[in-house]
Amino acid sequence: ARRFVILISGRGSNMQQIIEQARAQGWPAQFVRVIANEADAPGIAWAKQQGLQTAVVPHRDFTDRQAFDEHLAQIIEADRPDYVLLAGFMRILTPGFVARFKHRLINIHPSLLPAFPGLKTHEQAIAAGVGWHGCTVHFVTDQLDHGPIIAQAAVPVKDNDTPQVLANRVLKLEHQIYPRVVQWLAQGLVQVNQVGQITLEGITQRHLWV
Ligand code: GAR
Repeated sequence: ARRFVILISGRGSNMQQIIEQARAQGWPAQFVRVIANEADAPGIAWAKQQGLQTAVVPHRDFTDRQAFDEHLAQIIEADRPDYVLLAGFMRILTPGFVARFKHRLINIHPSLLPAFPGLKTHEQAIAAGVGWHGCTVHFVTDQLDHGPIIAQAAVPVKDNDTPQVLANRVLKLEHQIYPRVVQWLAQGLVQVNQVGQITLEGITQRHLWV
């Protein structure tokens, strides 16, 4: 089975969906540790209840990003994961960290990249007046929210949507698309070449929409 470490900062609903769907469907996936940068992240409590290995690495304990990332990388490497999944992990990682986990570091971002990188993506989408919004699962590169795209899911933006209502509509699809990508990773179906092109062996469903 392939080994996964999951990094979270808060609620951890994507992590929970990934782990529950993996268990229910018996993918060849082992979730070797859940790591949070916030001690009181609700997702960490859930992971502990499930009997998973956890760690908390509070970023405020470190003098700079470099020091935090170095410590984080050491903890991750001790578990020898095949993949590191960012699931609502709200820290920007340094180029050194990204290089260390090249093509093994995956993120979910709540927009249809390359639209709306950064924070407050649902506010951004409403303000821009787009008709479609969604989420993207992608490999992490040095450029924030810009790596090779593995899969995307789209939802309509409706009249009178608030950011919260739109966020909930997107989150439902996050809970489908991220586990689906992790299943592909577990099964060894995702390849990425040196120029960042992705090949998905025998997979046609790289998109979801409602
Ligand atoms: C998710 O919507 C995820 O896409 C987003 O944070 C939320 C975490 O929810 N990630 C980012 O904004 C990354 N910059 P969760 O903790 O319940 O999975």
